[in-house]
Order: sequence, then structure tokens, then C-alpha cells
Amino acid sequence: MTEEVFLSPKKKGKIAVFISGRGSNFRAIHDSILAGKMNCEIALVFSNKEDAPGLKTAQDRDLETLFLDPKAYSSREDYEKEIIKELRKRDVDLICLAGYMKILGPSLCREFKNAIINIHPALLPSFPGLHVQKKAIDWGVRYSGATVHFVSEDVDMGPIIVQEVVPVIQDDTEETLSDRILKEEHKIYSEAVRLYFNGRLEVRGRRVYIK
Ligand code: GAR
Repeated sequence: MTEEVFLSPKKKGKIAVFISGRGSNFRAIHDSILAGKMNCEIALVFSNKEDAPGLKTAQDRDLETLFLDPKAYSSREDYEKEIIKELRKRDVDLICLAGYMKILGPSLCREFKNAIINIHPALLPSFPGLHVQKKAIDWGVRYSGATVHFVSEDVDMGPIIVQEVVPVIQDDTEETLSDRILKEEHKIYSEAVRLYFNGRLEVRGRRVYIK
């Protein structure tokens, strides 16, 4: 069987940032765009939570926002059908999950194959899932970090684009470690998006080559 190869596009892309909470990673990406460092624009900030503070930030920054209530749909597939319609309307090229706490279903993953990326506050494949900063402390690891990866149908398992290592300090609490990791998240997420729209990411199987 020949290996499938994906090369990210070299174009001025449109992104949709998906958030469920405060949206500091969204802000960091937007700041990088405003600083002229990125070959893309934000076409939409989307949330599954009406009261996500990041939506207000996006509105204050004159970005288009959309909240869709998952409870208003009879299935995840119907919910995602509506999301896909909204994304296509805006010609979105890439979805950036930034603290989006709802698991994506197969319909969205397939429709946006190689076009969804996520940030995770640990060095995957260690510590997938939730509350991973606390799990890293409790496990006693000396280093944790942050990972930006492509999203596949298996949660937190897609090909890794960028990682940054962060030390775990003896007296760390969940909060202090989360803050230290978050600072690195803000750097590597923009970097991953920048590489994506500069046509620099080549995906072969599990491996992402930076051209
Ligand atoms: C970030 O630490 C992000 O890595 C994490 O949620 C936080 C969102 O912060 N995401 C996950 O845990 C996904 N599994 P933000 O809303 O300030 O960007």
C-alpha cells in the first residue's frame, strides 16, 4: 500500500478557532496575526458554551463569533452538520481547537481531514485527557510540556506538529505548572499555524516533517 502524504497549503488561509473557556490561546494566535507574523486570518471564533469568556474577547476584537448549543440538536452528527455548514459558508481552511472541551465526532474529523489541530497541556502521548497538569505532578514526572497535533478520530492521538518541554518543579501546584505550560502553549500554537499556512508541514503516517 502506498503511504498517504499530506502537504499543508501555502496560502493566505482562513481559520476558525474553537473555544470553550477563557480563550488565552485564541488571543495569542490573534496577537501573532496582528503582529503580522502569520499568513492567515481568523474567520470565526466558535464555541459550544454561550458564556465562554473568550467569545466576549473575540467580540471586543471585532471578530465574528458563533455559539451553537449542542443540547439543541438530537445527535452529535446533526450538531456537527450545522457546524460544517457554518464553516463552509466562511471558507474556513483550518480549525484550531483552543481549549475546546467537546470531543469531535467522525463527521467533522472526516470533513476537515488534515485541517484540524489541537493544543494539549502535556507531552503526548503521555497524559491524554483532562486535568493532565495535576496527573503529571501526581505521577512525579520531572518534565511535562505542551503539544500541538493534528486531530484524528482517536482523542489526543493525531500526528504531532510541535512540542515544548516544561520542567516540573518540586513545589508545583496544578496552578503553577499550568501557568508555566500555558506560556509555552501560546508560543507553539502560533508557530504551528504559521508553519501550516506557509506550506511547511508534510504528514506521512504518524510523522509530521517540517519542510
Ligand atoms: C489550555 O491549557 C489547553 O491546552 C487546554 O485547555 C486550556 C485552555 O486555555 N486544552 C485541553 O486540555 C484540551 N484537552 P485557554 O482557553 O486559555 O486557551
